[in-house]
Amino acid sequence: MNQSYKTIIFEKDDHGVATVTINRPDKLNALNDEVLNELADVFKAIQIDEDIAAVIVTGSGKKAFVAGADIKELRELDDRSGRMASQKGQQIFQLIEDTRKLVIAAVNGYALGGGAELAMACHLRIAGTNVVFGLPEVGLGLIPGYGGTQRLSRIIGRARALEMILTAKQIKANEAMELGLVNDVVDGDPVDTARDLITKILKNGPIAIQNAIKAVYHSDHHSGFQVEADLFGQLCDTEDFIEGTSAFLEKRKPEFKGK
Ligand code: COA
Repeated sequence: MNQSYKTIIFEKDDHGVATVTINRPDKLNALNDEVLNELADVFKAIQIDEDIAAVIVTGSGKKAFVAGADIKELRELDDRSGRMASQKGQQIFQLIEDTRKLVIAAVNGYALGGGAELAMACHLRIAGTNVVFGLPEVGLGLIPGYGGTQRLSRIIGRARALEMILTAKQIKANEAMELGLVNDVVDGDPVDTARDLITKILKNGPIAIQNAIKAVYHSDHHSGFQVEADLFGQLCDTEDFIEGTSAFLEKRKPEFKGK
């Protein structure tokens, strides 16, 4: 297994638990292309590693799980490359969701945009009390493009998902818990709680666990993901997207024109 990752830390313990830590703390673990590629590589390796029964996904440092897709890279996208970028993110997150091992996100601090989408691609989510979830994309002139429009609706229901996406509001631990976006909020390190939960779950029949996950996800259909990627690409060709992403990078408020 290739363990020479640059932007993630991969660890495996003696109890069949792997930990994948997104490790770009100076950029709040934002998902650039390299992180996405390494996530794909590590999950392909995890899939075929018979010693691994469960995976914890987390972010480096206490400030952020992942503060989103890398806005500097997003800024370069147009219609075609935007659609491809969305599809690439969707495929990698689908790979995570489809992993035939239990996958738990241990979320500390900011889980915004692609970070919230990554957490939602995991089967369960344990949050620290400082967690901040949000899908800020419309504030950048975009929509969530890594499966967020689909998974958020499935997890918390369409009306609440739409409200979160349209207002781009950021929610804290208590609200995330009330909405059912996270399974638990803990005072200590969510990685420790995720580990305890894994121990409890793995006492049950391993084949039954795999199949329970498969069965629960079976009703999800995939056509909405295509629509999401098409619209994400189209938005990458708008003036509002240029304005929204420029405003973030220049640390000012955007002035959208609806074009
Ligand atoms: N993409 C690229 N860089 C990012 C980033 C992202 N999504 N999120 C944070 N960073 C970078 C910042 O540009 C900054 O880099 P710099 O030190 O080179 O200037 C560094 O990470 C620290 O972030 P900063 O904004 O200074 O921290 P903060 O504590 O003031 O604010 C956030 C934290 C999360 C509120 C803020 O970083 C933010 O709004 N990030 C973008 C969230 C977002 O819109 N994500 C969705 C993308 S689709």
